[in-house]
Amino acid sequence: MAVHICEHYGLLEESERTRIELAALYHDMYREVSIRKLLLHTQEISIPLTPEEQQWPSLLHAPVAAHHAGFHACLSDSAIVTAIRWHTLASPDMGMMGAVLYCADYMELERTYMTHKKVKSLLDAKRLEHLVKRVLEDHFEHSEKKRRDVAETTFNTYRYIIQGGRFR
Ligand SMILES: [Fe+2]
Repeated sequence: MAVHICEHYGLLEESERTRIELAALYHDMYREVSIRKLLLHTQEISIPLTPEEQQWPSLLHAPVAAHHAGFHACLSDSAIVTAIRWHTLASPDMGMMGAVLYCADYMELERTYMTHKKVKSLLDAKRLEHLVKRVLEDHFEHSEKKRRDVAETTFNTYRYIIQGGRFR
């Protein structure tokens, strides 16, 4: 999906798309690690976490994967590490690769709520920032239904887009 989004919006040179493929392959590397181990590990490596990641430890797989990505030669590229870091919550600082990965993660067809029709409709967004805005709006609606608070960084990303922010 990440490469598909890049192709759709003409982002990255074809030769550079390997970088987004690497980020997409690695981003959920720690998704299946138990909450207990993730909590212990984040204490050991002492990485900065958002309040929401501390409250919902299943989100810890993102900062942990970003931390470890930095130690792999093929992933130790700041754009890749940042994209992996923010793939769950989004951030105004996630960069273009982060914005692509955030949307791609939401738009995976394996997700119960996602369909080809929905993907097609989301990709009607004229540019990457508009796509992120639509994904965020879906997320807000879903969070409201579930009566869950939206993470501050997620809301800040929305505000960033509304104020004309771009992901480069
Ligand atoms: Fe994830």
